[in-house]
Amino acid sequence: MDVNYWNGFASEYDEYVIDAFTYGRSETVRRMVERFASPEKSAADFGCGPGKALPYLAEKFGVVYGYDFSDKLLEIARRRCEGIQNVRILQADLTQAAERLPAVDFIISLNAVLMPALEKRLDFLRGMASRLKPGGHLLLNVPSVESLLYSYFREIEWYRRDGFSPQAAEDAIEPFCILNPEQTARGVFIRGTEPTKHYLREELLVLAREEMGLEVLEILKMEYDWKTEMEDEQTPEWMGEPYPWDWLLIAQKA
Ligand SMILES: C[S@@+](CC[C@H](N)C(=O)[O-])C[C@H]1O[C@@H](n2cnc3c(N)ncnc32)[C@H](O)[C@@H]1O
Repeated sequence: MDVNYWNGFASEYDEYVIDAFTYGRSETVRRMVERFASPEKSAADFGCGPGKALPYLAEKFGVVYGYDFSDKLLEIARRRCEGIQNVRILQADLTQAAERLPAVDFIISLNAVLMPALEKRLDFLRGMASRLKPGGHLLLNVPSVESLLYSYFREIEWYRRDGFSPQAAEDAIEPFCILNPEQTARGVFIRGTEPTKHYLREELLVLAREEMGLEVLEILKMEYDWKTEMEDEQTPEWMGEPYPWDWLLIAQKA
């Protein structure tokens, strides 16, 4: 999942990526942004990609920075933000040299810290936290290990309700997201075609506290509809709550 991967993906991004800002149920991301927004404050989107959240952030904050290392995705973000005066879009590898980026009151990062390499993830997370002003808030959205496994449980249930025996239902699912025991232990699962880091709730809690030096205010579920999660989008009526989710960490710098 290097810069070439994201560049190669740019033209198909809108078609294939289920992003948290657009597809999250109950507008959770917007509501959480509103909680911390003010025209007196500055904000930054770490790993903004094609910039879907930037126009909304620009309405709510005095100045908004959008960072990403993919020049192709940033081209789309620039087009999307044409004419919006308070958005600054910059190309940056966020695993490196965060100190040259300005400190801000609010940081949002939606499904950007997905790289399988622990060292890069830690650099991204620590660098991002270092760019928060004292008292500033972070909204970090990441894929959930628990939700991924729970989706397999729901798939088995689907087969059972279609008449399969419990054993046949368990045998019927193809857990192609799961690579091998080593990657599973690291929380790395295949999404689309790529090994993608997923997080446990408690893991996020520890990372925020110990590695990012932040106080955790809340960890919420950022729910999606089932049709965004299952291979077969024709999910049955009965498959409702609890919905699949990402973790949404809300943390503050002391
Ligand atoms: C799944 S996309 C999410 C984009 C956007 N936040 C959204 O929700 O639509 C992940 C983004 O993280 C960016 N990214 C990944 N690693 C990065 C890095 N080291 N530095 C900067 N951007 C990075 C990718 O280029 C991509 O735009």
